Amino acid sequence: MQERAAILGSGHYVPPRVVTNDDLAQMFDTSDEWIVQRTGIRERRFIDESGTGASDLALPAAKMAIEQAGLEVGDIDAIIFATLSPDIYFPGSGCLLGHKLGLGGVPALDVRNQCSGFLYSLSVADAWIRGGMYRNVLVVGAEVHSTGIELADRGRDVAVLFGDGAGAVVVGAAKREGQGIKTVELHADGVGAQDLWVEAPASMFIPRLDEGMLAEGRHYPRMNGRQVFRWATEKMPEVAHAVLGKCDLKVDDVDLFIPHQANMRINQMVAKRLGITDDRVVHNIERYGNTTAATIPIGISESWREGKLEPGSKVLFAAFGAGFTWAGAVVEF
Ligand code: UT7
Repeated sequence: MQERAAILGSGHYVPPRVVTNDDLAQMFDTSDEWIVQRTGIRERRFIDESGTGASDLALPAAKMAIEQAGLEVGDIDAIIFATLSPDIYFPGSGCLLGHKLGLGGVPALDVRNQCSGFLYSLSVADAWIRGGMYRNVLVVGAEVHSTGIELADRGRDVAVLFGDGAGAVVVGAAKREGQGIKTVELHADGVGAQDLWVEAPASMFIPRLDEGMLAEGRHYPRMNGRQVFRWATEKMPEVAHAVLGKCDLKVDDVDLFIPHQANMRINQMVAKRLGITDDRVVHNIERYGNTTAATIPIGISESWREGKLEPGSKVLFAAFGAGFTWAGAVVEF
């Protein structure tokens, strides 16, 4: 019989520096009222020291996940690291994290699928385990956004949204009947590539970055917010229905819905379209903002520790982000 893969443990870490909406309003023209009303975000975390990368935030999250899974670091035989903000341009943050964990020789794969990166990574871990290639895969989502956003009037629509943080899970063989990753569905459509992107530095330009690009701010993320909003509120319910259908489950069978945290209004609209009650929807965007690939594993880790996840809990996931990319999953804990 083919082995089913399950999430065996989870962890998260956010840097200690809290940046409130009022703090941002000191830096550029915005207000707590605008941010809360449009996004639900009240505060986010920023790293406070130069030299702290996504792999540094991932390290404590990974150790926490390995411990909850009842494993030792040495039991991890593969790493998948989802991030759009790798510590450095190359090599990938997975290699850096593996070294920090002392896992010399263990393979490390970086996944570049932005807000859907965690679910893309989960699908790879699931396939590796079901195929018998690896036994215990560490799947990480970690981001340092604060050093890359434009904290000025010009970049305010994007700058208020993002925060730093990390989440991790360990994926290994299911231990109980029914437990495990039931399905993951992935999508991408590059038609939206320029609706949410960082254009430079880019290998297609000679030179990759010049003073003109810096002056125009082409090295900062730029977003067509309304277009992203429209797509997210259509694609997240669509993929959620699709994954539930594949598992023969109804919305009422779902114990918990952990959506990607981009905007509270997006998630309220998605929950309404799905007909899922508020008490079953996880949100932490008010405290962390959008931590991209980290939002879902942070949501898993916090929910588990708050007692919202127990053996047998059926959890629905959905994400949408830059690419465009989107994904859904159903997991029984
Ligand atoms: O994981 C995917 C990541 N991204 C997203 O999910 C984002 C999806 N989009 C959104 O969440 C929303 O589009 C935003 C929250 C980004 C923006 O909300 P909106 O209701 O679409 O606002 P808008 O961009 O249409 O801007 C409305 C007004 C504009 O002023 P005028 O032209 O009406 O005078 C903006 O200049 O709000 C202004 N504005 C701001 N005001 C205060 C834009 N950003 C800010 C700001 N503070 N930070």
